[in-house]
Amino acid sequence: MTAMTVNERPVDFDVDPATPLLWALRDVANLTGTKYGCGVGDCGSCMVLVDGEALRSCLVTVAEAEGRSITTIEGLSRDRSHPVQQALVAEQAIQCGFCTPGIALAAAALIRRNPDPGAEEIHAAIPNLCRCGVYPRLVRAIQRAGRVARRRERISAAPAPGIDQEDAARAVPGMRGSGDGAGGGTD
Ligand code: FES
Ligand code: FES
Repeated sequence: MTAMTVNERPVDFDVDPATPLLWALRDVANLTGTKYGCGVGDCGSCMVLVDGEALRSCLVTVAEAEGRSITTIEGLSRDRSHPVQQALVAEQAIQCGFCTPGIALAAAALIRRNPDPGAEEIHAAIPNLCRCGVYPRLVRAIQRAGRVARRRERISAAPAPGIDQEDAARAVPGMRGSGDGAGGGTD
């Protein structure tokens, strides 16, 4: 068992400790908001927060994540109310959305460090690839998210997504808490 915290809940993963965190999150914890793109650290679609730092979960093993606090897109906010989520929607900085979870988490880490980033800092902090090319809108959205975080602006919360994290975790013993164990499901 490898214990860690995922979206503020204690989780034990009963998987090979060398398993990439990406697959533990997706296939065992059923948190499929974390996307598989390249698998080799190039695209950023698999980014999650590890103790607040945006890391590519395809490059982090379960063993390396032991004892750490993981935040996936499902845990960034329960109701899309995080400033980054609000601003991405308001600036329409989403097309197919495949890259969006990783970008949202990288952006959340950035504005936590610096809520008033310039374009160059944004480009450096968000290396994520977007095949739909939302890059210009991303800069606007992240700067707007920073203004929201600094309480210089308000954006009406986007409608609740209608997806309850409890539902996503319902068939996943590992998400019910430490000690229940996590099977090797392949949903
Ligand atoms: S899937 Fe991890 S960086 Fe592309
Ligand atoms: S919105 Fe489609 S990959 Fe970025």
